[in-house]
Formats: sequence, C-alpha cells, structure tokens
Amino acid sequence: MRVLAFTSQKGGSGKTTLSGHIAVQAELAGAGPVVLVDTDPQGSLTEWWNEREAPTPAFAQTNVSRLLTDLDELREQGFKLAVIDTPPAITLAIQSVIAVSDLIVIPTRPSPHDLRAAGGTVELADRTDKPFIFVVNGATPRARITSDAAIALSQHGTVAPITLYHRTEYASSMIDGRTVMEVSPNGKSAKEIEELWDYINDRLEKNFRRTVFQNQSVQTKPHQARGGFGRRQIQA
Ligand SMILES: Nc1ncnc2c1ncn2[C@@H]1O[C@H](COP(=O)(O)OP(=O)(O)O)[C@@H](O)[C@H]1O
Ligand SMILES: [Mg+2]
Repeated sequence: MRVLAFTSQKGGSGKTTLSGHIAVQAELAGAGPVVLVDTDPQGSLTEWWNEREAPTPAFAQTNVSRLLTDLDELREQGFKLAVIDTPPAITLAIQSVIAVSDLIVIPTRPSPHDLRAAGGTVELADRTDKPFIFVVNGATPRARITSDAAIALSQHGTVAPITLYHRTEYASSMIDGRTVMEVSPNGKSAKEIEELWDYINDRLEKNFRRTVFQNQSVQTKPHQARGGFGRRQIQA
C-alpha cells in the first residue's frame, strides 16, 4: 500500500480538495482500492465523504496517534493506496503523518503568502528525508505570478508539471460529495486531475521501487535484515 499525504502550513491551499479528487481519480484509474484518511480535526474531507453516494473511495476514521497501527490494518485489508488529508499546520502531528508517508504533496497557491509559507512545510519534509512535490493550485490563466510561483517553488524542490487553475467547479462539485470528474468528466478540470494523478502515480511508483530496491540491498547484510521499507532503516 502506498501512502500519499497532502500537507501545507497554509489553510485554503487545496489540501482537502486535492485529497478528495486524487483519491477518486486513483480509483477511476484502477489504482484502488483507495482509502481516504482525514487527520484534520475540522473534518472537511469527512463531511464531503459523508455527502458522497458512490461507494468508493473508502474512508478511515482515525487520529494521528493511531495512524501507524491503522495504516497497518488498512494494508492488511488490501488497500492499495491511502490518501491522507492534514490540517494547516507544521506541528509534531504533521511530522508524524509525513513519517508514515511515501510521498508528500504540497498544494500551493500562486500568492506571496502561500509561497512564503511553503518553506516551513519543505523543512518538515526534508527533516524526515521524504520525497515531496509542489502543486500550483488555483492559478489564473496567463497571470505572471503563476509562472513566477513555479520558478520560486522550484528553488525548494520538484514542482508538478501540471498546474491546477482556479475554477469554481472544483468547489461546486464537492458540495454534494462529488468531484469534477463526476460532474463534468470531459471538462478541463477533470483533465487536470487525470494528468496530476498520472504524474503523482509515476512519482509514487518510482519512489516505491527505489525503497524496495534499497530494502533488498539491506537484506544482503545479515545483521541489518529486519523488515520494513525505507532509507532510515539502512542507517540503523
Ligand atoms: N483550483 C481551485 N479552483 C477553485 N476553487 C478551489 C480550487 N482549489 C481549492 N478551491 C477552493 O478553495 C477553498 C480552500 O480549499 P481546500 O481544499 O479546503 O484547502 P485546504 O484544505 O488546504 O484548507 C475551498 O473552498 C475549495 O473549494
Ligand atoms: Mg482542508
């Protein structure tokens, strides 16, 4: 099971919108079964999911202190992807979400405030040595600040080559528990999400393959061959 987390210090950057959309798109693209995990006490994603009629993606009620054991349980239940929404903060709680994730997505509005806030989230991801990508969200077509934002973010890390534009259907589609893919499957927003998922999936696969490969190389050293994935194990 891959674990994907949406984090950013800034409220309103699109964490909840993208968590819901990417989870539904992953399921549509055949990467499921997908489970959504809401670690934000505000519960926006939970409320959206409660409005939802479609049976997928699944939803897991949890909290940060139980997250690790709950993810193990979900893994055993056969889920292939867990998508975690987080509150707007850089706290110990967020750090523990990052620690259990394979990839961190940091949605960022092309605004000076969001760009300044992005640094804090990056520091957190860097501290745990987890791969992360920025997604520019809520962009205005042809606005200079959109490309400026991508350039500024690229100084800190990888920027997804897909920009999500400001479109009211991202908000309106979620009113009754749906997504843009379900409301207007042939629309521009649906295409953006499809492309974003393809990119994220690619990154997840690459990161996952790398950790598995590293794990195998660890197993050639008898004293370090204890279970689990990831780079930190190698240093142990
Ligand atoms: N690309 C977009 N276009 C239009 N509205 C958006 C877009 N992304 C997010 N929104 C809206 O912006 C608000 C904040 O988004 P949300 O996903 O709740 O952010 P966060 O979870 O990071 O606080 C919501 O009302 C959402 O519907
Ligand atoms: Mg949110």
